Amino acid sequence: MKGVILAGGLGTRLHPLTLITNKHLLPVHNKPMVVYPLEVLRESGIGEIMIVCGREHGGHFMNFLGSGKNHGVKLSYALQDTNNGGIADALRHVEDFVADSDIAVILGDNIFEDDFREAVARFRHGSMIFLKEVEKPHRFGVAVFDETGEKIVSIEEKPSEPKSNFAQTGFYIFDNRIFSIIKELKPSHRGELEITDAVNKYLEWGELEFSFVKGFWSDAGTFDTLLKASVWAATRSHL
Ligand code: DAU
Repeated sequence: MKGVILAGGLGTRLHPLTLITNKHLLPVHNKPMVVYPLEVLRESGIGEIMIVCGREHGGHFMNFLGSGKNHGVKLSYALQDTNNGGIADALRHVEDFVADSDIAVILGDNIFEDDFREAVARFRHGSMIFLKEVEKPHRFGVAVFDETGEKIVSIEEKPSEPKSNFAQTGFYIFDNRIFSIIKELKPSHRGELEITDAVNKYLEWGELEFSFVKGFWSDAGTFDTLLKASVWAATRSHL
């Protein structure tokens, strides 16, 4: 399985910091944000990783991470020229790199305590997503369960009235059909190709598996969550 870190986007929720640099190069405690997802992929047993980033800061990522040798992985890079076409648009750029493999995708602003070694080893086909109970589900993709509470019937992206408190975290596993699904996607009302629409396609086919994240998880894309992630990382490093 190959790995992908999505580190494009405009990071507007972190202006003015992201007017100077890319969100994923900002510090989370003592390391640039991008190092956390990189370590999660590595600890999940994935050694070949492509980073997708915007053109303005592509050189900074390469300068900082190089070939990946110092982090125990092999890195390559792709540029998402549009920068804000959406998560699924960013993913289009890794099709040649992934070739015939399956892929683990991690959002560059997602900070996980868990790794996904067991899920990666178990994966055969379809898609797997990972949920976490949160206080403000309207900020995320939210799982809608059937009456038994055991089966997902859909994932709703940032619903104004969330039907559960379970957010879809930014770690996904897909088989190779993800690229043909993305080619059929239409931009959402916010003008982006949504990863959630691709996940819902696997759900329609009955090929979506889900499990729960046990340890700490947060995005770090707002001032509040950047601080929350930094406090968690600082506390962990003192344990
Ligand atoms: O953090 C988990 C959530 O991430 C999920 O629950 C949502 O379903 C999912 O849509 C996403 O929501 P956000 O609105 O928080 O995503 P955001 O636009 O912040 O993008 C997340 C990462 O994806 C970002 O750190 C970089 C990458 N990205 C994003 C866009 C829009 C790209 O590489 N290119 C892009 O065009």
